[in-house]
Amino acid sequence: MNVMNLPHGGVLTERLVSADEVIRWRKQKKLSALWRLTPRQLCDLELIMNGGFSPLTGFMARADYEGVVARMRLQDGTLWPIPIVLDVSDALAEKLTIGDAIGLTDTDGALLAALEVHDLWQPDKQQEAVQVYQNNDAAHVGVAHLLTRTHRNYAGGTVFGLELSQHFDFPHLRHTPRQLRQRLVSFACSRVAAYPSRDPMYRAQIELVRNLANAVGARLLLHPAIGEAQAGDIEHYARVRSYEHLLRSDELLSILPFAPRMAGPREALLHAIVRKNYGCTHLIIDREFSSPGQEFYPAGAAQESVAQHEDELGIKMVPLPQYVDLPMSNRELPCRLPDQLSVPSWYSHSPIAHEEQGVTIFFTGLSGAGKSTIAKALLARLMAAGRRSVTLLDGDIVRQHLSSELGFSRAHRDLNILRIGFVASEITKHHGIAICAPIAPYAATRRQVRDMVEQCGAFIEVYVATPLAVCEARDRKGLYAKARAGLIKEFTGINDPYEVPVAPDIVIDTASCTPLEAADSVLRRLEQQGFHIHRQNITATYGSASPEFAI
Ligand code: PPS
Repeated sequence: MNVMNLPHGGVLTERLVSADEVIRWRKQKKLSALWRLTPRQLCDLELIMNGGFSPLTGFMARADYEGVVARMRLQDGTLWPIPIVLDVSDALAEKLTIGDAIGLTDTDGALLAALEVHDLWQPDKQQEAVQVYQNNDAAHVGVAHLLTRTHRNYAGGTVFGLELSQHFDFPHLRHTPRQLRQRLVSFACSRVAAYPSRDPMYRAQIELVRNLANAVGARLLLHPAIGEAQAGDIEHYARVRSYEHLLRSDELLSILPFAPRMAGPREALLHAIVRKNYGCTHLIIDREFSSPGQEFYPAGAAQESVAQHEDELGIKMVPLPQYVDLPMSNRELPCRLPDQLSVPSWYSHSPIAHEEQGVTIFFTGLSGAGKSTIAKALLARLMAAGRRSVTLLDGDIVRQHLSSELGFSRAHRDLNILRIGFVASEITKHHGIAICAPIAPYAATRRQVRDMVEQCGAFIEVYVATPLAVCEARDRKGLYAKARAGLIKEFTGINDPYEVPVAPDIVIDTASCTPLEAADSVLRRLEQQGFHIHRQNITATYGSASPEFAI
């Protein structure tokens, strides 16, 4: 092993205890509580246990956390850009005292590790956002995760790993840093250039990356992060198949259980550290690396940040030049897949070209706004096109079958919407089209559903913006009258809030269009996003005799 690819901090800090110790841990049962890890925490734990996050030996204690947030340094001065912390609920925090060991389990409850708690504190998350993400704008997906989906207590301490997470997907492509380093030795490569691809790749792109690796005399390692998926990520099965298809026999592919934070320049440094721990000598990154949108980090900031720390990191940054303009983005590609003729062969590659991306169309609006009517019109148009399986999760139907025991309190509405979101995400994952039409009055819950669905496909939020006065005048079910008379408590718009969507994908004003016209505007949006619907056939079928919204 040459100096260039020593692990960060000098040694691999693998945290898996010996088989004897595992038995001792399990028998002793001195665990004061169990904590079921979130998808992000599962990724972090795996990289702590397998040495990918060397020199960390656990989740950060407070002094390391504060040093990292303020100065990008662990307490001992080692460069580290992003906090690796275990956020836990109030219920768990109340039970804990310093020195306790808690069991960390996977989502099925299997015990993976114990954490000896050295510190328990409530961080200043605003400060963390400003320092780590360089802003506290909730439109930034990483900031939103920190501010709204991260518990307010952090538990830091040493990890004793009992068992690595079990993965049934692509086990032959998963390596610990030690295993990958051994492979690199057997390949006799002294220089390895990692490319942390996030999207499916097309031929032109891999050629570019290949040439960059060749230019620095390195073997190419495609090293995609397959961790907690981010909004817009394409199902990782399709991604990995595309890489396998493009790879040459002298190149390497390994998938990494890394949960992206989209923290731009700081995240690029973390990628460099992890790649160094996996034995790489070079990291190929693009100008927008780990950026959730152009407005958050200047182009090239991630490249500069790694280049500035090259010497200290012992890994070289290889800049990926900006691509020439392409007629479609990588993310758009899978939406186009139903109609293979529309994907040029120079752009695409066969494994992905046979797959289709799923989509959830999520209507929201007041009772009586016309959501169900438009949803039914849309369903009919899509069914007539006959290309995809379509499922309608209408508010009323869901309340009869899936949420029959629920009322209209805030908690019950949230549960109802999350159930709809879960079913819709399953449909989307399996390449179907889910149409949802609940009131969904709360913005945070709608956001949660979007996040859930976007992990496996596309999500289109349609705000049916019929004013309250119009809905009330229609009063198709007589519920507004009852609510005004005080017979229904918590009726949306009357005595319960409706939070108007701030940035819906589509706004429909039912005062100025028919249901079929409204459905058509959704179809147009689907087509703009690359879905092929064959609208013209449907229009011919239905003609223009659209029923109106008003009764
Ligand atoms: S929510 O808020 O998203 O959980 O509501 P949803 O599941 O879409 O159900 C709304 C339908 O239930 C009827 N209904 C009420 N709506 C709002 N508030 C109260 N208190 C209420 N009680 C019953 C109403 O008919 C809604 O139907 P649609 O067709 O959606 O307007």
